[in-house]
Amino acid sequence: MKIAVLGAKIIGGALARKWARAGHDVMFGVRNIDNPETQALAQELAASVATVAEAIAFGEVVVFAIPGSAMTETIAAHGLALHGKIVIDAANRISDGAMNSAADFAAHAPGAQIYRAFNSLGWENFENPIFGNLEADLFYCGPAGAGRDKVEELIRAVGLRPMCVGDLRQVGLVDAIGSLWFALAFGQDMGRHLAFKVLTRPS
Ligand SMILES: NC(=O)c1ccc[n+]([C@@H]2O[C@H](COP(=O)([O-])OP(=O)(O)OC[C@H]3O[C@@H](n4cnc5c(N)ncnc54)[C@H](OP(=O)(O)O)[C@@H]3O)[C@@H](O)[C@H]2O)c1
Repeated sequence: MKIAVLGAKIIGGALARKWARAGHDVMFGVRNIDNPETQALAQELAASVATVAEAIAFGEVVVFAIPGSAMTETIAAHGLALHGKIVIDAANRISDGAMNSAADFAAHAPGAQIYRAFNSLGWENFENPIFGNLEADLFYCGPAGAGRDKVEELIRAVGLRPMCVGDLRQVGLVDAIGSLWFALAFGQDMGRHLAFKVLTRPS
């Protein structure tokens, strides 16, 4: 898959590392192409580095791994270029009402398929999603169809089990999982190596 990863630091880097290892083509979309850290990361992963606009043009999947505070401006500037793309919003707008950017995508990128994923766990759990012999679940939401298959493939490539909770109307539920993660990891001092698992058995 051709994947544009906007943001090349903690989350962008952790996800890109897994996807590159799984054989996907990653292009980082960044503000400063010449940043030595970004260049070194790209070299390590055999990925490429380009402007945000170039990366969006490249990717069939576009992952937002930039600060929540940069989301409104970035979506407004590039929304039309997202037409027909699978967009994964991993960014959290801390202390800004909604944590997600669904309203901005609806306003500026009506032709994109928007998924909310990779927002609800700390990056350490993307780097190592295995607890004992269990793989952590990753809750996500977004439109049904072929886009979901691709998003699930990318979740599995990180080593997590995809747990779909429905279409984008469930975005608040996915964000609430992130709030639960914060409440346990920091509020209850359980630490950042913390994830969730859905248990079922046949009835
Ligand atoms: N860290 C976590 O555990 C975690 C977990 C889940 C979700 N998230 C969410 O993921 C997002 C990224 O978090 P992070 O921890 O990876 O942050 P980070 O390490 O600070 O990385 C942010 C990246 O975004 C880039 N960036 C900043 N402003 C930009 C803009 N206006 N346009 C394009 N790129 C811009 C930065 O590049 P420059 O070098 O140019 O500043 C950097 O590469 C946040 O929204 C965060 O809430 C984080």
